Amino acid sequence: MDPQQLRRILLQQARSWGQAGLRTVPAFRGEATPLPLESAPASPPEGRQAIESHHPAAPATRSEAPAESRPESRTSASAAAQPASPPPLPPRVEVAPMASFQELAGLNRAQRIEQLEILSQQVAHCTLCQELAAKRTQTVFGVGNPEAKVCFFGEAPGADEDRQGEPFVGKAGKLLTQIIEACSFKREDVYILNTLKCRPPGNRDPTAQENQNCQPYFLRQLAIIQPQYIVCLGKYAAENLLGTGLPIGKLRGRFHQYGQCKVIATYHPAYLLRNPSAKKEVWADLKMMLQDMGIHPAKG
Ligand code: URA
Repeated sequence: MDPQQLRRILLQQARSWGQAGLRTVPAFRGEATPLPLESAPASPPEGRQAIESHHPAAPATRSEAPAESRPESRTSASAAAQPASPPPLPPRVEVAPMASFQELAGLNRAQRIEQLEILSQQVAHCTLCQELAAKRTQTVFGVGNPEAKVCFFGEAPGADEDRQGEPFVGKAGKLLTQIIEACSFKREDVYILNTLKCRPPGNRDPTAQENQNCQPYFLRQLAIIQPQYIVCLGKYAAENLLGTGLPIGKLRGRFHQYGQCKVIATYHPAYLLRNPSAKKEVWADLKMMLQDMGIHPAKG
């Protein structure tokens, strides 16, 4: 790509991150000095610190994960869909979340809606992952209550989600809705989001670079919503939030911490479609959360 064009694209991206409240781009083609974004406040950013304390490890690629936790739709299609020579990745750009939970703690409902709308516009115009941006029908930002106590955090949109612009609307999504209702919630009570905001073509596994590109978006999304509980659906959601490479079998059954949020990691609904016997484990995980919330659902 012509360097001028690349510079224009990166500046445009930096400007839009700046408008979304992101303050620095700490790593850009090996340069150690953070690049200030245009709309950044003069005060030193605390975001880098925040990303390190909340996100200790860089996300690994999904191909490292055992099939146990990989959503069905992706696993089956991923091998066949790998192009012979993938298009070049965009330059490595790492962005701190900038707005920590503390900074966004005082937002009222209207302000959260506004912040989510601004962020969703940034996401809609994001071109960091060239292949995903070129092939998506639309971005899939998130849906639900901007003041939700519980966020359900999935992996990446599939074909149905790409078409409809809403997370978890396909087969696995229908099961997730049943799970949410079994908890005595409605879909509108909680917030549902994914790690990736674009569908990986052919439902292939997202790359580590794609996960990294999308991380500032979901971290800010969570900081705006300020949930008390985050339910990671599948290994990749847990990996991208908690920075752990452990499989769900080793992560489930206990609380983890992300900042002030209690996090549970349980099996992905797509895995449950293939392995219905694992539903009892998912239900046990959710009951642990509900009990902690002081909620006693009718089921089991
Ligand atoms: N699987 C996910 O992880 N997210 C979706 O939105 C749909 C399927």
